Amino acid sequence: MKIEDLFKIKGKVALVTGGSRGIGEMIAAGFLANGVKVYISARKEDQLNQKAEELSEKFGGECIPIHNDLGTLDGVEELVAKYSSFEDSLDFLVNNAGAAWGEPFESFSEGGWDKVMDLNVKSMFFLSRNLTNLLKKNASLDDPSRIINIGSIEGIQVPPFETYSYAASKAAVHHLTRALARKLVSENITVNAIAPGPFPSMMLGPAVNHDYSFIEKTNPRKRIGSPEDIAGLVIYLCSRAGAYTVGDTITCDGGIVNASSSNWTD
Ligand SMILES: NC(=O)c1ccc[n+]([C@@H]2O[C@H](COP(=O)([O-])OP(=O)(O)OC[C@H]3O[C@@H](n4cnc5c(N)ncnc54)[C@H](OP(=O)(O)O)[C@@H]3O)[C@@H](O)[C@H]2O)c1
Repeated sequence: MKIEDLFKIKGKVALVTGGSRGIGEMIAAGFLANGVKVYISARKEDQLNQKAEELSEKFGGECIPIHNDLGTLDGVEELVAKYSSFEDSLDFLVNNAGAAWGEPFESFSEGGWDKVMDLNVKSMFFLSRNLTNLLKKNASLDDPSRIINIGSIEGIQVPPFETYSYAASKAAVHHLTRALARKLVSENITVNAIAPGPFPSMMLGPAVNHDYSFIEKTNPRKRIGSPEDIAGLVIYLCSRAGAYTVGDTITCDGGIVNASSSNWTD
């Protein structure tokens, strides 16, 4: 029952997609600070390599970059092949890479649907499916392997933005999480989702000119999300403490969904 045992993740191996910045970087940092070997993937090679070097140095751990585009099935297969050339097992898969798209209802484009659904939903399914054998390797009744899917509160409540495909994709992520959880629980792999609210990132930043003061003012907790908020929840889900939580979608939003009568920018 000691904290050191309940939340211990030291010695495990994680893959965090989209780990080069934003929420993925925060999750990778939380793992590295607690003794996990972390693989991060993203498309922009220089940024990815730099981030892996920076994080390894900062936490004195092992952060390994895998340059890759997850927008296609070929990209998914390439990531699995590259990861498999380094490791023959995987303890934690964090499906974090995601894209958003905003366009007026009247002119919303097909590209805005395909790009978002392919990366946010389709790749999440195939990457999880194609890594299942590696996730099974160390999985046991006492210590299951974990898949964590990053959804969004936009998949729970109707967003105030014209992000039709994004909101639909995130609702799909939450439901896919339950379907995968049901399939994989007997293999000792737990699947859960996190639905973040606002966190500083390249996805949210441009929408508010990187000025988060209005979001902070209107958030029930009066602030934007921090690395500790998201990393803490991921560590809970990956540790002994989270081993009995299955198929859930946990909000991490300062109370927007459950403790507010207004939307996140109202
Ligand atoms: N920030 C928020 O407020 C917020 C709120 C709710 C949910 N989320 C979710 O949290 C996750 C992370 O978002 P973020 O805000 O941290 O976004 P971000 O700053 O834009 O980071 C996205 C990450 O994904 C990578 N990526 C994007 N497209 C990719 C592709 N086709 N293949 C491989 N990697 C790709 C990016 O690197 P490259 O560009 O180099 O590929 C980057 O590492 C997403 O699933 C997002 O929907 C974010």
